[in-house]
Amino acid sequence: MLNPLNDSKAVSKPDRILSQHQAALNHLITIVQNPDKDDVNWLDIGCGQGHPILHLDNCIDEDFQNKINYFGVDLKQDYVQMVRKKCSQLNLKSNDVKVVELSNISSKFIDKKFDFITLINIIHELNPRILSEILIWSILHLNNDGVIYVHDLEKLEKPEFGAITYTNNEIRKILNELYKLITDKTPQIIVSKWKYSTTTGWSFSFKKSYYDIDDKKLKKSYDKDIKTFEKIVEKILSEKLEMKTKLLISVTEDGYETDEEKNDADLAILDFWALKRALEKIK
Ligand SMILES: C[S@@+](CC[C@H](N)C(=O)[O-])C[C@H]1O[C@@H](n2cnc3c(N)ncnc32)[C@H](O)[C@@H]1O
Repeated sequence: MLNPLNDSKAVSKPDRILSQHQAALNHLITIVQNPDKDDVNWLDIGCGQGHPILHLDNCIDEDFQNKINYFGVDLKQDYVQMVRKKCSQLNLKSNDVKVVELSNISSKFIDKKFDFITLINIIHELNPRILSEILIWSILHLNNDGVIYVHDLEKLEKPEFGAITYTNNEIRKILNELYKLITDKTPQIIVSKWKYSTTTGWSFSFKKSYYDIDDKKLKKSYDKDIKTFEKIVEKILSEKLEMKTKLLISVTEDGYETDEEKNDADLAILDFWALKRALEKIK
């Protein structure tokens, strides 16, 4: 996990659910209610402290929990243990929560397919190479009627060194290119923007059955597609770095007039560092 700039670590708040976790659970509820499905495989990528799982008991009856095979992956051992403990208190059909560094994801769950994949508030922690791979990998490992739900923040509430945040427009651009790579169908993309009390978030969902995706073809072109997609993400990030650089030059030479401009410039310094570092690592 990246380091927050202040000392408050992400704190678990089991008594209050965040809207992104509620949104994920609503997707899950729709899938679990399918009378033709007795097994629902849910993969929570970067599960952290398992926030959605902490609230599952309240919103899904035990009989329905019993359809869910929960798979959680995270690089932090203590989070994994925490989520395993919570899973053991639920009536899940099965659970498999383990330490996985996402750069190794292709060697895990080799032939496994999932009905639901969540990537909640993790995108900003991924370098462009892992981001490219994880999105393509998730599509490949989704059942044909499966859904991917992704949420993150445009600006972090607690700034983190090395974090790359995206605006909803940047995500839309990235998805447009991704869909062009994997399907011949015209991309249908809604990247929602969510106003929260102190920041703004974005989210999108992807339903595989809306696109004619040939898994065999996707598997064959997997490495090539990741490389192409990585180049696209790299280009978008290079443009972002150029924009942040211009803003910093302008503030350095002309100063700022409002607190908002000062705040934007402070955030631009962090963005500048994160983008420069990520782009240098690609080379
Ligand atoms: C901000 S937390 C979000 C956790 C959870 N999804 C939620 O919504 O509460 C991001 C999580 O992603 C994990 N993570 C970041 N980079 C990772 C990587 N390369 N491989 C595996 N996990 C990673 C971190 O350890 C952290 O737990």
